[in-house]
Formats: sequence, structure tokens, C-alpha cells
Amino acid sequence: MKKDFLSILDMTPEDLTHCLDLAARLKTDRPLGRNAPTSTALDGRHVAMLFDKPSLRTLATFEIAVRELGGNIIEPPADSTLGGREALSDVALNLERWVAAAVIRTFAQGRQMEFARATSRLHVVNALSDDEHPCQALADMLTLRERWGTLAGKTLTFVGDGNNVATSLAHAGAMLGLTIRVASPEGYELPDRVIAEVAALGGSTARTERFTDPEAAVAGADAVYTDTWTSMGQEDESAARRQAFLPYQANAALMSRAKPGALFLHCLPAHRGEEVTDEVIDSPASVVLDQSENRLHTEKALLAMLLAES
Ligand code: CP
Ligand code: NVA
Repeated sequence: MKKDFLSILDMTPEDLTHCLDLAARLKTDRPLGRNAPTSTALDGRHVAMLFDKPSLRTLATFEIAVRELGGNIIEPPADSTLGGREALSDVALNLERWVAAAVIRTFAQGRQMEFARATSRLHVVNALSDDEHPCQALADMLTLRERWGTLAGKTLTFVGDGNNVATSLAHAGAMLGLTIRVASPEGYELPDRVIAEVAALGGSTARTERFTDPEAAVAGADAVYTDTWTSMGQEDESAARRQAFLPYQANAALMSRAKPGALFLHCLPAHRGEEVTDEVIDSPASVVLDQSENRLHTEKALLAMLLAES
């Protein structure tokens, strides 16, 4: 049966924990190369990469992940797949004759859902939409687990736009017992639907809380996370956003409100001097390159879970 990963909510908390456990194992095994137990997990199958927004980390890590699991990738140009040259459902029905999975980065989450509904065979993975970035949250959770052992009872404060990255963090954090505070200017808050989704997960201790005051949100936090003020596709709004988000910059003064030893996270790409200062992103507190590396290990685990057993 095909399984999709369009949202962290497509996993149970048990699936999520299994994915992180498997990722940690794959990370340890990586130096074994072709002798790693999962080096033929995809058994020569193909994965299509369909991206109509730029990417460094997601594209590179998925390509390496597929190859290290013994599969192959195809990367048809976006204007031939997501660009309206033919119906998205027809693209899906053609691709399912050739490949086992599609990894899609596009704007509306609804288009990924439309693609996934059109195919009963292809596994579909969300490589970023305007609403969610579930693959990023997998890497973030692994990074925090490596540092802390367990996430239960810890608090992470996200300062910035309550959109895709913050949403997937809230979903994953709630499943693993992490309290997520999201501090945003008015008009850029984490959507109500995310608060409702987190509440529906019914976790015993974890909470998602919205703030407008960044200092109050960061007070006593175990980690501080930020993302660009202007996401891909919103470039026309960048002047207004720079103005609105300025008080939310992750700088040394804001970090000093967090717990001593608090970590700094960013999904990257970073806009140094805007949402984060050099001093913070280059400090010993920063785990941004661990997050980036862990994209690879968590995506290998995800693909193995979706594809190896089907
Ligand atoms: N963090 C992340 O998704 O990076 P890319 O946009 O480079 O893929
Ligand atoms: N919020 C950012 C994340 C990039 C990985 C964007 O959507 O552009």
C-alpha cells in the first residue's frame, strides 16, 4: 500500500520515534558505505524530484539519500511537471508507471494533496510547501535528541513567521513532548488550525503557545529557532516584512534571555544581519549544520520506511 508524507501528521508518534531511531542508526552506519545494511533498500527503484522553488539542502540530501539506499533519481524540469503543461493528475499517472515515489517542493500544499490523490501507487513526500516542511522537522527533532537525549519537558521558542517551518515543528514537538512557543508579529502568527491540530494530538505535557513579545517567549527556553522573514514566493512583501520582524531578530540580546547553554537552530538558508546575527549563528550554541547534516539521515530513514517495506 502506498504511504505519503505530506505532513508530520501523516505519522503517528510511534512512527516518528521509529523514524528518528532508524535515522540515528543510518547515521552510525554511513561510514560502511556499500556494506551498510540498507545500501540496497530501494533495490534499483526510481524516485522523481519535482521542485518548482529553489533548494540546496533538500534537493542535495534527497538525491544522496536515494543513491545511498541503492535507488536512482530522475529530475524532470519543473515546467514539464508542476508548471501547468498538463494536469497534475496526468503527471502523477504517467510518473507512477516509471517511478516508486515523488518528492515535491511547490507552493500550495493543496497541489501536493491533489497529486497524491491522483495516484494509488506513488509514495508522495512534501519537500516544502507554503504551509508545512515536515522533512525539516524530522532533522530538527534528531538534532535536538542528539543534544538532549529526550525532548520531553524541554521548551523550544521559534521567533519569526508562523508558517511552514514553525507548523511542522509544532506538530513534531507535540508528538515528542516538547513545548513549542511561537513568537510572531501580528498578522504572521501560527495559524489557528495548527493550534487545533496540536490540541487534537492530545499529548499529556507538550503545548504549543503563541506570543507576540519575543523576549517573553524566549525567557527560560532551552532552544531558540528562527527562519527567514520572507519565504520563497513572498519576495514582493519583503520591505514590509523587514519592518514587522525587526524586533524578532535572533541576536545576542535575545539569546541572553534563554536558559544558559540554550541551543540556536535555523533551517537555512540564513539571511545574516536580518533574522539572525553572525554572532549568534556562528556561536557554539548554533547547531544549524547538524540540522543540515541530519536532513540526509532522516530522509534516508523516511524513504526506507515508505519504500523498503512496500
Ligand atoms: N532547509 C531547507 O529546506 O533548505 P533548502 O531550501 O536549501 O532545501
Ligand atoms: N520558510 C522558508 C523555508 C525555507 C527552507 C521558505 O518557505 O522559503
